[in-house]
Amino acid sequence: MSLPFSVFVRGFSKSTSVSASINHVTVIGGGLMGSGIAQVAAQAGNKVTLVEVNDSALQNATKRIEDSLKRVAKKVYKEKPADGETFLNETKSRINYSTDLTGSVKQTDLVLEAIVEKMAVKHELFSKIDPVAPQSAIFASNTSSLSITEIGSVTKRKDKFAGLHFFNPVPVMKLLEVIRTVETSDETFTKLMEWGKAIGKVTITCKDTPGFVVNRLLVPLMAEAVRMMERGDASAKDIDIAMKLGAGHPMGPFELADYVGHDTTNSILTGWYEKFPDNPLFEPLKSMQELVKQGKLGVKSGEGYYKYEKK
Ligand code: 3HC
Repeated sequence: MSLPFSVFVRGFSKSTSVSASINHVTVIGGGLMGSGIAQVAAQAGNKVTLVEVNDSALQNATKRIEDSLKRVAKKVYKEKPADGETFLNETKSRINYSTDLTGSVKQTDLVLEAIVEKMAVKHELFSKIDPVAPQSAIFASNTSSLSITEIGSVTKRKDKFAGLHFFNPVPVMKLLEVIRTVETSDETFTKLMEWGKAIGKVTITCKDTPGFVVNRLLVPLMAEAVRMMERGDASAKDIDIAMKLGAGHPMGPFELADYVGHDTTNSILTGWYEKFPDNPLFEPLKSMQELVKQGKLGVKSGEGYYKYEKK
């Protein structure tokens, strides 16, 4: 698969203003998704603050971003390594790392949350930052499965609350789902659609429904593949080969599940099953639950349905 070149050309802008109204972005959570979001915003010229709970988490995020930026620079500036170096340094200089949550949102245009998929934790976060962030700041969640309306319900800025759902690996995947609730204002929605385009993504929109578009289709597909393997109909390896060669998918469902992380997929399924117990597509998966119990979360932990070499 080739990288979307236009993203990086647009991303490597000398301008510090990618969108008329969103210049400073605060990303809360520096995991796979949060660090990717911080990276693409910085590549496109935004000033970014990435917030994590402690220094060790920040160090992991910094490394992830720098490794990914190097891959981008190597590809885009293959013939011009000096320009690649400038791109790296300029992008890095736009990212500020912090453990000070409330201090980081005092001056910002957009706060984007990419923390653990637990409603109570998200509520605690938004309740803390709502009184401190500027009145004009938009709040967004990168949740893959929870209700945006419910997450935003604890804030006093429901007109400035929306979903911005990115895909892993964020620097490569071109899609951004922009989710509006019934209370999201037209102005907020327009600003977010513009910002998405300005950072090089193709934006689509969808109602505030479980999984939005992509996960509502992708998660049941991964789950059916796992059930097929659990029944003994075919091996994980053969199912992966089948979906890559028979359906043209870039990864098979087990490779993808390992890539996304079983903690994430398991919590999506569990959450949906609790809300919609009659939908058999959402039934949690025994083998995945067992992997989570054993800490075998996929690529990021070195083992999931497959084993991976530690980098
Ligand atoms: N940062 C920067 N560049 C990256 C990167 C990263 N993190 N990961 C991959 N790349 C680049 C590589 O450098 C490579 O560049 P090149 O063309 O110059 O060599 C290019 O992307 C392709 O990577 P690889 O050669 O390593 O491997 P593949 O060709 O197999 O592509 C893939 C990897 C892009 C991940 C591809 O397999 C793919 O598209 N897989 C499907 C991913 C997917 O479905 N994601 C969505 C998951 S669902 C989700 O995220 C929602 C959430 O809510 C759960």
